[in-house]
Amino acid sequence: MDKTNYIRDLFGEEDKILASISPRLEELGLPLISVPPEVGKWLTMLVRMTGATKILEVGTLAGYSTICLVRGLNQTGHCTTIELKEEHTKLAREHLAKAGFLDRVTTLVGDASVQLAKFIQEDKKFDFFFLDADKVNYPTYLEQVIQLALPGAVIVLDNLLLGGRVLDVNDSHPAPTAVRKVTDLLVNHSRLESILLPLGDGVGVAIVR
Ligand SMILES: C[S@@+](CC[C@H](N)C(=O)[O-])C[C@H]1O[C@@H](n2cnc3c(N)ncnc32)[C@H](O)[C@@H]1O
Repeated sequence: MDKTNYIRDLFGEEDKILASISPRLEELGLPLISVPPEVGKWLTMLVRMTGATKILEVGTLAGYSTICLVRGLNQTGHCTTIELKEEHTKLAREHLAKAGFLDRVTTLVGDASVQLAKFIQEDKKFDFFFLDADKVNYPTYLEQVIQLALPGAVIVLDNLLLGGRVLDVNDSHPAPTAVRKVTDLLVNHSRLESILLPLGDGVGVAIVR
């Protein structure tokens, strides 16, 4: 057994709603790229630990991580989630309805960088961010969400190891290049204090100063 399965076996138990999401994605021919159960659990715990009340998620897919995030919120907390594809948002809304969370989540369809720019213009603020959309735009998303962050806000980014591709310096494809760039921002940005956790596919966590 490897480390991932050891952790998943011990801590990654899914309830019926979460367990139903992968089979549904498969049935619809959609990619099985929701966060793994142990990362979902970490998201729930981190939201609860930070006492966050205004979450912004980038990359909804079928709502797996959205459900995990909302589970960590108190009764008055709210989550806004942005997704490029209407089909994904529709599916996420099915799952959110099953979880009883439709009134706790605002689902937005469209390109995330456009929506984030709009939020910046409107001077919107959030205290917890989860970035899990197209990796090539991670550096842009990170710079944008820093502008939307309340002091002390937490930013979480998934897939910072990209299946190990970031370790191969000769892999200069756009996705690993962008992920290395966003990781460099996490390390060196003057407003961030960050860590990269080897959980799942690599989870970056930053606090905004
Ligand atoms: C890895 S999946 C998200 C998984 C989801 N966070 C979960 O764990 O359940 C990435 C999602 O980002 C969406 N996406 C890709 N490019 C995007 C963009 N430019 N703006 C918003 N969403 C985008 C994809 O359509 C896909 O649904």
